[in-house]
Amino acid sequence: MDSITTARLTLRHPKPNDAPAITRAINDWEVVRWLSRVPYPYQQTDAAEFIDRSEIAWAEQNAFRFVIILKSEIVGGIGLERHDKSLFDLGYWITRQHWSKGIATEAVFAIIDLAHEQLAASGITASCHEENQRSEKVLLKTNFSRVGTGLRFSTALGKKVAEIQFLRDPADTDRSISLSR
Ligand SMILES: CC(C)(COP(=O)(O)OP(=O)(O)OC[C@H]1O[C@@H](n2cnc3c(N)ncnc32)[C@H](O)[C@@H]1OP(=O)(O)O)[C@@H](O)C(=O)NCCC(=O)NCCS
Repeated sequence: MDSITTARLTLRHPKPNDAPAITRAINDWEVVRWLSRVPYPYQQTDAAEFIDRSEIAWAEQNAFRFVIILKSEIVGGIGLERHDKSLFDLGYWITRQHWSKGIATEAVFAIIDLAHEQLAASGITASCHEENQRSEKVLLKTNFSRVGTGLRFSTALGKKVAEIQFLRDPADTDRSISLSR
């Protein structure tokens, strides 16, 4: 599971020397404003901390985070956080220059396969700000279903924002599961 290859992309663990490239790719208000736990402006020390935390979380099997590489360049990030034994929460971002090329959709499909084939996921949750039409489209294209709405604190915005909650392939997971945080 060290890396995943798709038609156009490589998804691999973030490494310490990725910090400058991650910082360049994500430090854009139009990206960060839609994410819940990412500070803005985003600094290289934020990336270094993220990489360290990701390494620990991976070792503990609590989160599985990848950088997304297109033609040798880091163009985004994607990951799964474990809610409980077999339920995972999905998150992702793509650098603005590469939006609307189907990159997020391709990466999400790859992560769904990973979740089911290697992590024995019984369900995957996701959420996006109510106004984030691009992300909603990615989730609907990858067969997530809307299951609710809620409020979530955004670090970048410094306030709670209305979000739409999604669930994919619940299989043996009860749809009434609480998605509130
Ligand atoms: C959301 C995000 C990851 C999408 O990445 P992407 O690689 O551009 O996504 P894709 O190209 O796979 O799909 C985007 C879809 O949104 C559509 N889209 C683009 N701009 C849109 C808009 N303003 N309104 C509605 N749909 C729009 C695209 O046409 C595409 O749909 P299509 O394939 O049917 O044409 C990217 O915009 C991003 O990183 N945004 C900031 C961070 C973020 O929102 N992360 C998700 C948090 S929940």
